[in-house]
Amino acid sequence: MTSYSLSKRAENLSPFHVMDILAQANALTRQGKTIYHMEVGEPDFPTTECIIDAGIEALKQFKTHYTAALGLPELRHAIAEYYDRRFSVRIDPQRIIVTPGASGAIQLIISCLLDAGENILLPDPGYPCNRNIAQVLAVESMAIPVNAESYYQLNVELVENFWNENTRAAMVATPSNPTGTLLPRQQLKELCQLMRHRNGRLIVDEIYQGLVYDDHDYTALQVSDECFVINSFSKYFGMTGWRIGWMVVPENYVDAIDRIAQNIFLAPPTLSQYAALAALKESTQQVLDERRDIFKQRRDFILPALEQLGFEIAARPQGAFYIYANCERFTDDTFTWVKRLLNEQGVALTPGIDFGTHQADKHCRFAYTLSLESLEQAVDRIDAFINSNKNY
Ligand SMILES: Cc1ncc(COP(=O)(O)O)c(C=O)c1O
Repeated sequence: MTSYSLSKRAENLSPFHVMDILAQANALTRQGKTIYHMEVGEPDFPTTECIIDAGIEALKQFKTHYTAALGLPELRHAIAEYYDRRFSVRIDPQRIIVTPGASGAIQLIISCLLDAGENILLPDPGYPCNRNIAQVLAVESMAIPVNAESYYQLNVELVENFWNENTRAAMVATPSNPTGTLLPRQQLKELCQLMRHRNGRLIVDEIYQGLVYDDHDYTALQVSDECFVINSFSKYFGMTGWRIGWMVVPENYVDAIDRIAQNIFLAPPTLSQYAALAALKESTQQVLDERRDIFKQRRDFILPALEQLGFEIAARPQGAFYIYANCERFTDDTFTWVKRLLNEQGVALTPGIDFGTHQADKHCRFAYTLSLESLEQAVDRIDAFINSNKNY
């Protein structure tokens, strides 16, 4: 037998605990049980037909070769036009880099900005892959506990408290995963000023842009052209499986990112780039905005429904499709609790532990990626679960 030997980075990489939940949910489905999937972080809608048609057309025209590592020039132009149309902000297409999903952008940007041993500041709770990608690249991440007072976002005070001589960057997401909260524009402005003062870089993940319900949507590019903005066709555009995203960076970083992208990815997927061109059309935006309105209706139903059951939602989720709820009234171990909820009532949630360590055992994330009717049924089942476990 060949010997088995792993790198430390592979050995130390954390699993997604929600995968345990998903495996358990799939086993229950095989037994014929109805499962309410509120653990999955992707829209339940399939990709819009006109985007699929554009992908099929590209294949028929044999668009099957590599493109430039930075992406198709016409797509980079179309993304620039999109910013102009939606946010009245002019971006030079040369600053736009097409990537294999936001995931590809995160790898590129961390590789580009930080050396091994340097550190990046991240909010806790936050999107877990950021710290894991940093770890794979031997970059340290510092998890900053965030609470409802700062909308579960970083602010100047927090960043100042955690900054040290090895800190090079901070990363935020607006709307955030798992909390659905926005980074207020003023808070972002102050962070940009602080970064300039500290000679650090601010990375703003806008992957849930377009899925904003109460407030006006904005882009960090309206505030500053010094930040590194990540985006994706996965969520608002409903293209998770196409693996296509982009980022906008200050001009003098494009060349370095081009070199890294050439080596790591060669190019983003060609088929998906042609499909993405259709996604950016004004006519497609109408369909996507209708879907956004459906997400809003769902949020408006499930938020008060969960509060009525006794979950505490400390900061109003204004975007994405997530609610991050404090479950303290019911448990101090949400990982075990969500497993039991799934087993007993067929509702799958993501435990807080997947998003960090700060009060993680008291929280879980609900994804409202189900029809209103199914959400109503899921709420009834959660209610039944709580009532049958009234030993809290
Ligand atoms: C905040 C955030 N950033 C990045 C990603 C990665 O998305 P993708 O690679 O599908 O574009 C996700 C996926 O859930 C996310 O929630």
